[in-house]
Amino acid sequence: MSPLIRPILLLTLLTKATAAPALTIEVQATQPGAKINPAMWGIFFEDINFGADGGLYAELVKNRGFEFPEPLMGWFKINPSHSQGEVTVREDDPFNAANPHYVRIESHGTAPMGLSNEGFRGIGLRQGEAYNFSAQVRDVTDTPGLRVQLYGGDGTLLDSVVIQGISTNWAKHTATLHPHDTDPKARLVVLVEGKGTLDVDMVSLFPEHTWKNRPGGLRADMVQKLADLKPGFLRFPGGCVVEGSVLARRYQWKKTLGPIEERQLLINRWNYEFLHRPTPDYYQSFGLGFYEFFQLCEDIGAAPLPILNCGMACQFNSGELCAPDELTNYVQDALDLVEFANGPVDSVWGAKRAALGHPAPFHLNMLGVGNEQWGPDYIAHYKAFAGALKARYPEVQLVSAAGPDPGDDRFKYAWARFRELHADIIDEHCYANPSWFFNNTHRYDEYDPAGPKVFMGEYAAQSVAIVSTKNQNNLECALAEAAYLTGLERNAAVVRMASYAPLFGNVDAWQWKPNLIWVDSLRIYATPNYYVQQLFSRNRGDTVLPVTLDGVATTPEGRQDLYASATHDDQTGELILKTVNPGAAAKTVTLKLDGWTQVQSGGRAMVLAGNRLDAVNSLDHPTAVAPVESTVADAATTFTHTFPPYSVTVLRLKGQ
Ligand code: AHR
Repeated sequence: MSPLIRPILLLTLLTKATAAPALTIEVQATQPGAKINPAMWGIFFEDINFGADGGLYAELVKNRGFEFPEPLMGWFKINPSHSQGEVTVREDDPFNAANPHYVRIESHGTAPMGLSNEGFRGIGLRQGEAYNFSAQVRDVTDTPGLRVQLYGGDGTLLDSVVIQGISTNWAKHTATLHPHDTDPKARLVVLVEGKGTLDVDMVSLFPEHTWKNRPGGLRADMVQKLADLKPGFLRFPGGCVVEGSVLARRYQWKKTLGPIEERQLLINRWNYEFLHRPTPDYYQSFGLGFYEFFQLCEDIGAAPLPILNCGMACQFNSGELCAPDELTNYVQDALDLVEFANGPVDSVWGAKRAALGHPAPFHLNMLGVGNEQWGPDYIAHYKAFAGALKARYPEVQLVSAAGPDPGDDRFKYAWARFRELHADIIDEHCYANPSWFFNNTHRYDEYDPAGPKVFMGEYAAQSVAIVSTKNQNNLECALAEAAYLTGLERNAAVVRMASYAPLFGNVDAWQWKPNLIWVDSLRIYATPNYYVQQLFSRNRGDTVLPVTLDGVATTPEGRQDLYASATHDDQTGELILKTVNPGAAAKTVTLKLDGWTQVQSGGRAMVLAGNRLDAVNSLDHPTAVAPVESTVADAATTFTHTFPPYSVTVLRLKGQ
């Protein structure tokens, strides 16, 4: 160190060491207030950004059943000009009438004939892992074999097997492949081996290693990230996909059960919703259907929160209403869903659940009526649902919508009606710039705790603007969200649940950003926003503790220098203090833990911080902004603590 720099550094250190704390945070450690819903911090899943097909659902073949409107989308014919033979799409005598299209590959044996699948913007393969191939195949002439190959993105052959013994009847044939290299952009190839003709359908490739190693299951790393959130609930399957742009394209849960080849394909509305981000190859195979969603909830300990169409299509699109005499069918779907989830095995829908392998109930106690609806028609439809559901299943809490904006006329109208109707839980959505979140931490202070409860069902700070392709999952947005969540936590008597939206984005195929978790075909990373949600979820606490900053409980307007909320963990006896420092300077604070006479050693601090507001994580730097844990050595009933610049801190302290 240069002699000139040393005195300056020393002066700075001394100044820091002796600087009087500018702020006091006071926590009433022995005055527990409102109970916090154990399911407070959860997950919103929507099939957007290739969230299901090409994401959570681990199938690696796109358009495996040739049922896309362009039956060969995702496939490339391999029929060199010097070869003799043909690859054609047919629908006569399919293996399953619900899945009518298949391909016929006719080869004269002079050159390779067949098809190659590109996967969901590339097939991700890992060296050392096994991949399970399956297909429905029928011999048409000469009983040839079916050669199955994996190629890397650069054309290197990674593995190859031949399936023999194909008969003239449709049958499922399987093979296991072991790629000898890792490749994020691999391809699957199926060829007729030698001379002959084969019919081929439902061409599938799954990693053997899926979540819980279930065949045909979910992508393990993606589910693990969800499990790591310790989510209180999982809302599914969306989002606008519930509504559909027209009713014919709405999500229908009954169509997502049973054999996968009978789950009929639907165009995903995010395929065409944004002209600036078209994804013409985005369809829903429903391999991740309602049974799998319930199973996922059970796996990760999240309460299921399905959202159903309420007889209205998306009001940003057609806003189509079902005919009045059809509404009863939509209501019946809701009643049947509760029976499917909870009913005894001798009930009609309980028996279907049992037949799928789950005789025990899924303990459904919340149900969403519509996604992001608004207006008088919605209220009328909601009443029909509530009348029937409350009569039969009074224990099920209904979640109703308040439109897409957290404060406009649609929102106010919905809240006024739902207050009159004594609705259970209102789903509020908010996509706004970081300032909105910083400035609205007092939002729920004025809500009536005796009125309907709040589900902050979709929130995300937008670094540029809603639906801008330039939005980033940066630290500033994460800090803004964390500040906002302190307001939700402080008002846990009113706010029962909260979830960030959307959940997943595929870096090669997204329509919307920001998203909580990003993936490519092999890798995954959590955003700073994820870590904020995780810090709150994993440090929830059971009751709210009163907190003041310089003697003030909440600042009603404007941005604060510091944000804080506190809870008490009834199991461990810990006080959990969450603090957000949105500023560029560290803040040294006097912490007063009123009501305690002493604080035990061994307290913990979890700090999410960065040195720039625009700091982000990425596939290459997945934990550039991630929580770091340390012990708090000097905690006492009154002590000073320094919160780093641009930080979210969770302190867990034990005392008496
Ligand atoms: O999260 C993306 C979309 O935003 C959801 O589908 C919808 O509910 C909201 O408009």
